[in-house]
Amino acid sequence: MKAGVAHDRFAFVTHNKHDFSLVAGDEELSGLVLNFVSDPQAMATEMVRVTRPGGTVGAYVWDYGGGMQMLRHFWDAAVQVNPHDSKLDQAERFPTCQPEPLETLFRKICLNSVSVRAIDVATVFRNFDDYWTPFLGKQGAAPTYLAGLDDAARNRIRDTLKARIATSADRSIALTARAWAVSRSEKARPARPRARSGHHAPARCNCCGLR
Ligand SMILES: C[S@@+](CC[C@H](N)C(=O)[O-])C[C@H]1O[C@@H](n2cnc3c(N)ncnc32)[C@H](O)[C@@H]1O
Repeated sequence: MKAGVAHDRFAFVTHNKHDFSLVAGDEELSGLVLNFVSDPQAMATEMVRVTRPGGTVGAYVWDYGGGMQMLRHFWDAAVQVNPHDSKLDQAERFPTCQPEPLETLFRKICLNSVSVRAIDVATVFRNFDDYWTPFLGKQGAAPTYLAGLDDAARNRIRDTLKARIATSADRSIALTARAWAVSRSEKARPARPRARSGHHAPARCNCCGLR
């Protein structure tokens, strides 16, 4: 089970089920997770459901198909060495991680104010080893893939990468990591009914009863 903080409340999210019932946040944000869950639509729907009226719902995912250059170089080299492994390329596995599918996913549940934008982060490596060594860590899709290969195949991918990645005079490697961020402002959501006193009655948390 993972715990995340949404303002002053906690969300407990299991790996099999998206249970946001403890959350009643003004903003719900999913970072680099949407493409991993079995039903991204259900997850986004839950995020909208538990967000207070007027709140914002957003998600960002890596641009595996292009601008996440560290991984893009890796999979291009891996597929060049082992063409039959192209289906493991994260761009192939996660077609949702592109502007149009992301926008479509959010539009299906939120009719208004959906926008997608790029977030670019500079990723500079001191030298090739600084770039390559984390891939040997056996955690994450690319390192797990590498760990399943024999030494010869692993070294071929390393050498292919070394040949294709541009290195500066000081041996550093300057890349960019791009994420696509989709968000929806809930401005169009209808207001909740008012209590008899005329004061707005915020929804109670399903679990603890707090307003
Ligand atoms: C790439 S990491 C991103 C971590 C962090 N949110 C960030 O932005 O750095 C992906 C995360 O998704 C989580 N994850 C994968 N599948 C999940 C699922 N079905 N339900 C909840 N979390 C999941 C993993 O445990 C991991 O922590």
